[in-house]
Amino acid sequence: MSHLFTESRIGNLVLKNRFMRSATWENMATEDGHMTDKLYAIYEELAQGEVGLIVTGYANIVKEEKPNAGMMGIYDDSFIHEYQKLTDLVHQYHSKIVMQLAYGGTKTTYNVGERVILLQVMSLKWHANARQSDDESGDRLHC
Ligand SMILES: Cc1cc2nc3c(=O)[nH]c(=O)nc-3n(C[C@H](O)[C@H](O)[C@H](O)COP(=O)(O)O)c2cc1C
Repeated sequence: MSHLFTESRIGNLVLKNRFMRSATWENMATEDGHMTDKLYAIYEELAQGEVGLIVTGYANIVKEEKPNAGMMGIYDDSFIHEYQKLTDLVHQYHSKIVMQLAYGGTKTTYNVGERVILLQVMSLKWHANARQSDDESGDRLHC
């Protein structure tokens, strides 16, 4: 049991113990993916609770392509300040935090109205009635 409280390392990342919080979408970010007080409070509580490594919920990397409601975003520089604040908050407790990046693409089921799908070198407008058959390699769409 005491082993759990010993320092560990993932590459260059030194962790104060072996507790990790797996990526968990909290549905608490704003509509455009920005931080809220509730989200800061959750991550602070995890750090206070001695979680050595916190993985954020998945964060969308393309503004128009958001796989789920209330998820964090990281698609432009407007996030720098608030994620710096989040990182500083967690570091106060000597915990570490990493962000899970996500691109839902054709697997997204949330808000599948008009949105941009990136397909290899092309981007297509994806409409609500567009479907991709299971046996395709991912580079063709039936619209
Ligand atoms: C509410 C909820 C949100 C989750 N969000 C994510 C996520 O954003 N990214 C991810 O990779 N896994 C996500 N997961 C999966 C968890 O990280 C974890 O792998 C899963 O719950 C299995 O672990 P457990 O058996 O300890 O619950 C989520 C799970 C739950 C219950």
